[in-house]
Amino acid sequence: MRIWVIGANGFTGRRVLSYLSAIGKYEMMGCSLRPDILPGSGDYRFAQVDINNFPVVEELFRKSTPDVVINTSALSVPDYCENHHEEAYATNVSAVEHLAECCMRTGSRFLHFSTDFVFDGKKQELYTEEDIPAPVNYYGQTKYLGEQAVASICDNYAIIRVVVVYGKALPGQHGNILRLVKTRLENQQEIRVVSDQWRTPTWVDDIARGVELLLPATRHGIYHICGNECLSISEIAYRVADYFQLDRSLIHPVSTEEMNEATPRPRFSGLSIEKAHRDLGYSPSSLEEGMSFMFS
Ligand SMILES: NC(=O)c1ccc[n+]([C@@H]2O[C@H](COP(=O)([O-])OP(=O)(O)OC[C@H]3O[C@@H](n4cnc5c(N)ncnc54)[C@H](OP(=O)(O)O)[C@@H]3O)[C@@H](O)[C@H]2O)c1
Repeated sequence: MRIWVIGANGFTGRRVLSYLSAIGKYEMMGCSLRPDILPGSGDYRFAQVDINNFPVVEELFRKSTPDVVINTSALSVPDYCENHHEEAYATNVSAVEHLAECCMRTGSRFLHFSTDFVFDGKKQELYTEEDIPAPVNYYGQTKYLGEQAVASICDNYAIIRVVVVYGKALPGQHGNILRLVKTRLENQQEIRVVSDQWRTPTWVDDIARGVELLLPATRHGIYHICGNECLSISEIAYRVADYFQLDRSLIHPVSTEEMNEATPRPRFSGLSIEKAHRDLGYSPSSLEEGMSFMFS
């Protein structure tokens, strides 16, 4: 099976690429905007590609038809998207639409990544794949439009929604809330975290396993692939402090209102993994298990 991972320099994309390469039975190719950040680190080819450059993408599909295209690329920072609408729309919507068309033409399965931020967070119980999105910021809007494009163009696809992804970051990749909290507490620095926003944090290796379960073209539609504990951001911070026996008094829980962030975020965007568990046998690690692997 020939598999492409687009966004292969990114936090999730690199883990998916190395996980699937290590299995040794797939012909893997990573694609990303910058050159390979870890050249020679596994059994895969690498193509430096801007997914906004449609002729180059089409040429890539002509040269070697993939069986599965996994798109982890995105402009994924909500604050950046809020201030760069055109750029965010191009990468998160137009380029996704184009990738979906290419996959449709070549008969490739399309696994496209999305987010809990498609929801408005007003539900106060875990969102299911049947709930109707209503994004509250521009990042969420573009991701929802990307999802709609994939669903309307492809018939062999899965949309994989993930939430607050954590794991080991490589140089040049963005960090995550767990690493930030651990580093701050270890350095005896105080940290303000919101106490009224809830998420289901996801260990990045669970995503790689979830992707593997979705490779066969037997299941289509949306799948929530995340952790099974719904926690406020401040609860996540306290769990990090307690696990590593760090000083929890340095953590200062504040309300969303007090945090006064420029970009609105959903209050409650925990996702239900019942469908993934039922259809795929997906079963994620606990936060403590994820932390023990992440910092081992
Ligand atoms: N991280 C989270 O907590 C989180 C939560 C919910 C949903 N998600 C979703 O999960 C997916 C992966 O997120 P992530 O945080 O792992 O992403 P990330 O680390 O921000 O990586 C995204 C990658 O996309 C690549 N990229 C951006 N523009 C591109 C372009 N025009 N052409 C080719 N590649 C391009 C970048 O490649 P280069 O590095 O080569 O420039 C970057 O490494 C995204 O769809 C995101 O929306 C993530």
